[in-house]
Amino acid sequence: MRRRGAAGAGGRLLLLLLPRGALLLLGVCNALSLEIKASPKVRAFVGEQVLLKCSFKSSSPITENLLVDWTYRPLTGGPMERVFHYQSIPYPTAAGRFKDRISWAGNVANGDASIAVQSPELSDNGTFICSVKNPPDVYHNLPQTVLLVTERGKLSSAALLSILVFAPSILVVVLLLVRMGRKFRAVKEKGKCGYKKSSIEVSDDRMCCMCELCVLHFGVKSP
Ligand SMILES: *[C@@H]1O[C@H](CO)[C@@H](O)[C@H](O)[C@H]1NC(C)=O
Repeated sequence: MRRRGAAGAGGRLLLLLLPRGALLLLGVCNALSLEIKASPKVRAFVGEQVLLKCSFKSSSPITENLLVDWTYRPLTGGPMERVFHYQSIPYPTAAGRFKDRISWAGNVANGDASIAVQSPELSDNGTFICSVKNPPDVYHNLPQTVLLVTERGKLSSAALLSILVFAPSILVVVLLLVRMGRKFRAVKEKGKCGYKKSSIEVSDDRMCCMCELCVLHFGVKSP
């Protein structure tokens, strides 16, 4: 209460002292003082609990007035519905698609407003939006989290085929590249020897040729 009074007085003082442009800027900064982060995409498997993360940063101290709301809209379209509400304590929805399937996994003191969805179903594909209000911080971005639920372990035939075809070909390409690299190195060594031959004594030259032999023996014609 005292703080709010002081802020009010400060605000009036600013109003007198600051030109309009600066006031506008101050307003914008104030509007962005609550920042929310959520993962843009979350994959889940049918029947396996999934965490929908949401974290927030507020420039105001966190009080019991803090509100968290999670809304949901199916990917196939349709109206938005509120699926979770938090104020001091969690209020899971008592009706609708996610009835008794969403639990609180957050901790507002740590800026965490995450929830968990129990036993996701294929038809749960959709967009979740985490919204936090920490008066007087109420304006913020609305990051969306797309939830995609798939069946675990059932590889589609297309995926299976690509694994069967692409994995061996990638292996062959890698092996070829390695061999080519070795050959290039061998050729380079040869080049060096040829250059050395003209300027440096014979013993050095022989060493080089031995090297070359090594490359030939172990690199290419390996025993
Ligand atoms: C949900 O999304 C996943 C991944 O895109 C898809 O495999 C699944 O069929 C979708 N479910 C429905 C009901 O459309």
